[in-house]
Amino acid sequence: NRTPLIDPFGRAISYLRVSVTDRCDFRCVYCMAEDMTFLPKRDVLSLEELDRLCSAFVARGTRKIRLTGGEPLVRKDIMTLFRSLSRHLESGAMEELTVTTNGSQLARYAGDLKACGVERINVSVDTLDPVKFKAITRWGDLAKVKAGIEAALAAGLKIKINAVALKGVNEHEIDDMIRWAHADGMDLTLIETMPLGDIDGDRTDQYLPLSQVRADLMDRWTLQDIDYQTGGPARYVRVAETGGRIGFITPLTHNFCESCNRVRVTCTGTLYMCLGQEDAADLRLPLRQSESDAPLHAAIDEAIGRKPKGHDFIIDRRQAKPAVSRHMSVTGG
Ligand code: GTP
Ligand code: 5AD
Ligand code: SF4
Repeated sequence: NRTPLIDPFGRAISYLRVSVTDRCDFRCVYCMAEDMTFLPKRDVLSLEELDRLCSAFVARGTRKIRLTGGEPLVRKDIMTLFRSLSRHLESGAMEELTVTTNGSQLARYAGDLKACGVERINVSVDTLDPVKFKAITRWGDLAKVKAGIEAALAAGLKIKINAVALKGVNEHEIDDMIRWAHADGMDLTLIETMPLGDIDGDRTDQYLPLSQVRADLMDRWTLQDIDYQTGGPARYVRVAETGGRIGFITPLTHNFCESCNRVRVTCTGTLYMCLGQEDAADLRLPLRQSESDAPLHAAIDEAIGRKPKGHDFIIDRRQAKPAVSRHMSVTGG
């Protein structure tokens, strides 16, 4: 089956995000509770099954695959999956194979990623203060992440730094982060915190609207509109003073669902048609029940046929429950 995937709103699905593990070596406060129960290994797709699933999507027009987690680089033998998926880059079927990582294992894997055809990676760094970094990740070591970033730059990977904008945590550090990222030619993307899963504490306390951050930045920096695009949700500006780029990911203040081109699969083979909705489809059963891909393609078609128009995120103190009950680590954003 080679028909391209088009959803009911006419959006072509060309970007697949794959969470290869729900596990992570950090516990970022906005992403997980400290005490998490992870999936038993038998529920998790093997690397061969993940490859088969990804390849089915490539046959249907997926041009970009991003491995996420949890933390993708803590999955055992994960380079085997990168290596096998890189054949779709070589054949020209796919344009980009990439990863979003917390950076903790990058020093070890940067060279291997580059060798698998990965050109550009996204690394999550919410603060440059080692004490705050530890507080946000609950035990992460900023020095190790920075060493990983240096290794990745040295290996020739382009880097986008992701920072979730958090009130009272990193809001006064954004200028420093701009200077730091741009000094090494890295893009910096700021992200609004999204209400997924119960976390310890109240998300409303930390929510920082990026419309406000952007207005503040304009007092000190010259932000020029540019039409740079990666196929992700960020809208970019150039900072005249540094020559670098800042991206804004604004699910709350400026919805970008209209141009959505992506779906996500979890490490158990569950397909989520929208990050901000509960509706999902099981692809593990059709994957495991038959050696033919026909049932898998039928399940994919059925699911894409009910991709929703957009998310239901709101961050409001009066709303007791998060919009989506699963944690971010299930789908990796
Ligand atoms: P690029 O290829 O660099 O554009 O990456 P990306 O921004 O698509 O991916 P990344 O993994 O770096 O994600 C950055 C942020 O964007 C995370 O907080 C994701 O949750 C968020 N994000 C990605 N896709 C979507 C989406 O479809 N909807 C929403 N609401 N957020 C998304
Ligand atoms: N809201 C917004 N972004 C989040 N991320 C993790 N949890 C959330 C959340 N609740 C970010 C990570 C990573 C990216 C994949 O998603 O920091 O950079
Ligand atoms: Fe796409 Fe849903 Fe994200 Fe909107 S919230 S951009 S529809 S995945």
